[in-house]
Amino acid sequence: PPGAQQWVPPHPDSIDELKQAAADCHGCELREPATQTVFGRGAPNAKIVFVGEQPGDVEDQKGLPFVGPAGRLLRDAVDDAGIDPSDLYITNAVKHFRFELRGSRRIHQSPGPAHITACRPWLVAEFSLLKPELVVILGATAGKALLGPSFRVNRSRGQLMPWPGSAQHPEDFPVADIKALATIHPSAVLRADNRDIAYQGLVDDLKIAAEAVA
Ligand code: URA
Ligand code: SF4
Repeated sequence: PPGAQQWVPPHPDSIDELKQAAADCHGCELREPATQTVFGRGAPNAKIVFVGEQPGDVEDQKGLPFVGPAGRLLRDAVDDAGIDPSDLYITNAVKHFRFELRGSRRIHQSPGPAHITACRPWLVAEFSLLKPELVVILGATAGKALLGPSFRVNRSRGQLMPWPGSAQHPEDFPVADIKALATIHPSAVLRADNRDIAYQGLVDDLKIAAEAVA
């Protein structure tokens, strides 16, 4: 795929401007079957940016990130971790819903490496405007988008890391002094055998995030 770069405004002034431009993005083939681009949302001066995988079925229809079941769980966890929701901006590594049709049901499919790469310019543009203090990486797709293909959630979660973009792509993420913290994706909590333990693990990781920006 050609990637999103040619749709990204060269000198955007606001997230709104990016969002409007992203509505026209044809950077990869995920655009066609999906309903709409689902851009990030939140405080323009957010200290913390959460990066998820891609919009799900509900998000695709509503046009907003994390408004389905995973979003509800994430909001609870943010609350239980003591993070002020007005300090947040929430986005996804990939901005269109990837799915497989089975009859009339749309079954979630994880985005592939080519989709992550194609969509990455939007994430870069968001970071360049937001300049957050901390990035919370939700699960493997966001981790691969930001830390490279060898990222594994369970090896890295719950530890404050230096900003990952700079080492591999210094030209890419022109933002200094950001910290990063990886954790489990809220959808993985919903699928876990022991949901309570998985949820508590997410909250514990988010408490580290809360302390890091306190
Ligand atoms: N899962 C994600 O990764 N992002 C969303 O926006 C919703 C569910
Ligand atoms: Fe553009 Fe990303 Fe959507 Fe692909 S997934 S069309 S790169 S916004």
